[in-house]
Amino acid sequence: MQNGKTFYITTPIYYPSGKAHIGHSYTTVASDAIARYKRMQGYDVMFLTGTDEHGQKIELKAAEKGVTPKAYVDEIVAGFQQLWKLLNISNDRFIRTTDDYHEKAVQKIFRALYDRGEIYKGKYEGWYCTPCESFWTETQLKDGKCPDCGREVKWAEEEAYFFRLSKYADRLLALYEEHPDFIQPESRKNEMIQFIKSGLDDLCVSRTSFSWGIPVDFDPKHVVYVWLDALTNYITAMGYGSEDDSDYRKYWPADIHFVGKEIVRFHTVIWPAILMALDLPLPKQVYGHGWLLFGDGSKMSKSKGNVVDPVILCERYGVDAIRYFLLREIPFGADGLFTNEALINRINYDLANDLGNLLSRTTAMVGKYFGGRIPAQRESGDPDGELIAMATSLRQRCDSAIDGYQFSNALAEIWKLIARCNKYIDETMPWALGKDPEKQPRLAAVLYNLCECLRIISILLLPFMPETAPKIQQQIGADGDILTWETANQWGLLPEDAQITKGETLFPRIDVAKEIAALDEVLAQSQQQGQTEAPAQSEQPAKKDGKEGKNDNVVTLEQIAIDDFAKVELRVAEITACEPIKRAKKLLKLTLNDGEGTRTVASGIAQYYTPDQLIGRHIVLVANLKPAVLCGVESQGMILAADCKGSDEVRVIFVDDIPAGSKVR
Ligand code: MSP
Repeated sequence: MQNGKTFYITTPIYYPSGKAHIGHSYTTVASDAIARYKRMQGYDVMFLTGTDEHGQKIELKAAEKGVTPKAYVDEIVAGFQQLWKLLNISNDRFIRTTDDYHEKAVQKIFRALYDRGEIYKGKYEGWYCTPCESFWTETQLKDGKCPDCGREVKWAEEEAYFFRLSKYADRLLALYEEHPDFIQPESRKNEMIQFIKSGLDDLCVSRTSFSWGIPVDFDPKHVVYVWLDALTNYITAMGYGSEDDSDYRKYWPADIHFVGKEIVRFHTVIWPAILMALDLPLPKQVYGHGWLLFGDGSKMSKSKGNVVDPVILCERYGVDAIRYFLLREIPFGADGLFTNEALINRINYDLANDLGNLLSRTTAMVGKYFGGRIPAQRESGDPDGELIAMATSLRQRCDSAIDGYQFSNALAEIWKLIARCNKYIDETMPWALGKDPEKQPRLAAVLYNLCECLRIISILLLPFMPETAPKIQQQIGADGDILTWETANQWGLLPEDAQITKGETLFPRIDVAKEIAALDEVLAQSQQQGQTEAPAQSEQPAKKDGKEGKNDNVVTLEQIAIDDFAKVELRVAEITACEPIKRAKKLLKLTLNDGEGTRTVASGIAQYYTPDQLIGRHIVLVANLKPAVLCGVESQGMILAADCKGSDEVRVIFVDDIPAGSKVR
C-alpha cells in the first residue's frame, strides 16, 4: 500500500578504473536493503547508483591499454551493471557521468556558479599525486609522499577555476548544529566540525592538465574537475538542468546518501556548499559507513591486489549468502574484517543450521504428520504465548534497527526468533506428539505456530535476502496479501488450506577446511588473473602523451631512469626440482639453485609446461622480489616469461648456456 511519501536513496557513483569489487557491493547491497524496505513500507522509492567516469586516472588507464577512455569505461561499467543484476540490486536508475544529459547539466551548473561569482579563475599550485588525482600541501604529505597511497608526488601548477568553499564554513557549522542528524554516525560529524574549524580553502573545480572530463563550455581548455562533476549526479540524474526536471521536483532533496567514510567530507562539506551556492535544498542525511578490511587490516583496494571477486563468491554460495554476510557481520558504521572463514561460518551456522534447519524440519514434519496441510483443530499450550509475542513484536524491533541503518541488529533480532523457534521445537517435541493420536491438535498448533513464525521471518528478511524469502514463502504455502510488511506484526494469517511442502535445501552445509582451501585457490587465481590483466590493473602510469592504437599486448609505460631498473636484481638460476601445487591448478612449485643457495618460487606456468620440461633448465630470476605466499607456498621471487605476441601462450625465457648465479643487467 502506498503511503504517498517519496524516499530517495543514493550510493556513491563508483570509479570504473577497475572491476567492481566486494567493497562497492557492500554500499550497494546496504542501499538496496533500504530501498526494498522502504518500498515495502509503501514509499515511492527512488534508488540511484552509477559510475563516476571522468578524470586523469581513467585517462591514463585507458592510454595504458591503448583504448579510448570511453571504450575503457564502457567495458568496466558493463561489469558493474552485471554485478548489480547478479546481486539483485533494485536500483531505479543508473547514472554515468558520461551520459549526455549529465554533461550538459554540469556545464549549466558550472556556468550558473560562475555567473553568481561563486566560481572564479585562479592558479593552482601544490604537490600532485597522479593516481589519486589529488593536490596536497607540504604539510599533508607523509614522508614526502602522497598521504593516501604512499606514492611519489610532483610539484604542479596550473590555471584553474575555484569554488568559493571557504565562505561557507559558518553556514556548514550552522547546518550541523540545526540538523544534528545530518551526518551519521555521530563520530563522523565531530571529524567534519574539526575539519571545517581548521580552515577551509577554496576548492579547485577545473583542470587543464588532462582532457577526459566535461569541458567548461565558456573556457574549453578547462575540464570540470571530478568532484563538481561527480556530486552533482545526485540532482542531474533526477533531471535537474534538463528539460524534464519533474523527478528532481518529486524526489529532491535526497533522504539519504550512503557513502564510505573516506568520502564523507566531500558529501558533508563540499556538496552542501555547492547546493547552498545554487540556492537549492540540501540532502537530509549523509551516512558514512565503515570499511571492509582484509586479513592484514588494510582497506581492500584495487591497487593492493587484494580484491575479493563478488561474482566468485555468489557463484559458490548464492547471492543471498553474500548479501546476508555483508549486512550481518559488520555493524554498518564500523570497519570490519572480511575473511573467508567468517563468511563460511555465517553460512553454516546462521543460514544452513539455524534458518535452513528450521524451515526444513518444520515443512518436513507438516508433510510427515499431516500430508502437507495443517488441520484446523488446534490446541494451544506452553510456551506458545511467549513465542507469539516475540514474533509479533519483531517487526517493530526491525523497523527501529533499519531506520537507524543498523542492519546487523535487525538481522540479529530476526535470528533471535529463529533460535527461539528451534528451541520451541526441542521443547514441544513434535516427534513425540506425532506418536499419540490424541495429541494431534497440539501437534497441529505447534507446527502452525512455526509456519506463522516463518511467514513473519520471511517478510522481514525480504529486504536483505530477496531470493531466499520467497523460497520460504513458497514452502510454507504463503502468498498474496499475507506477505506485506504491515502483516508482519499480525498473527494467524496463514490460511487453513495452505499447502506446505518441503522444498530444496536453502543453504547446504559447507566443509569449512576443504572449502577455505578451495576458496583461497580460486580467489588467488582470480587475483593473479587480475594482475596479469594489466595494464588495466597496473599501477604504472602510461606515457603522458597517451598515444592510442598499440598492439594488443604491447604496453608503453612511463620511461624509467637507469636507477629504477638497477633496483631489480636479475639472476640466472637453475630449476633443480618442480612439482604441481595441489590447491592451485595454474601454479608450479619450482626449486631453484640461484648460485648462492636454494629457493622456492611459485610460477603461474602450469598450463604451459610440465615439470619434466623444466627440471635442469636455466631461467632468469627476479631475485629481490618481496616473498609472497601463494596457495600455501612461499614464493621467493619470480621467473621471467613472455606473453607471446599474437597468441595466448606464455613462454619462459630459458638461458641454458649461462651458469646459475650470473647477474643479468
Ligand atoms: N567516485 C567516487 C565517489 C563519488 S560520489 C559522488 C569514489 N568512487 S570509488 O569507486 O572509489 O568508490 C568508493 C566507495 O566504494 C566508498 O565510498 C564505499 O562506498 C565503497 N567502497 C569501496 N571500497 C570499500 C571497502 N573496502 N569497504 C567498504 N566500502 C568500500 O570514491
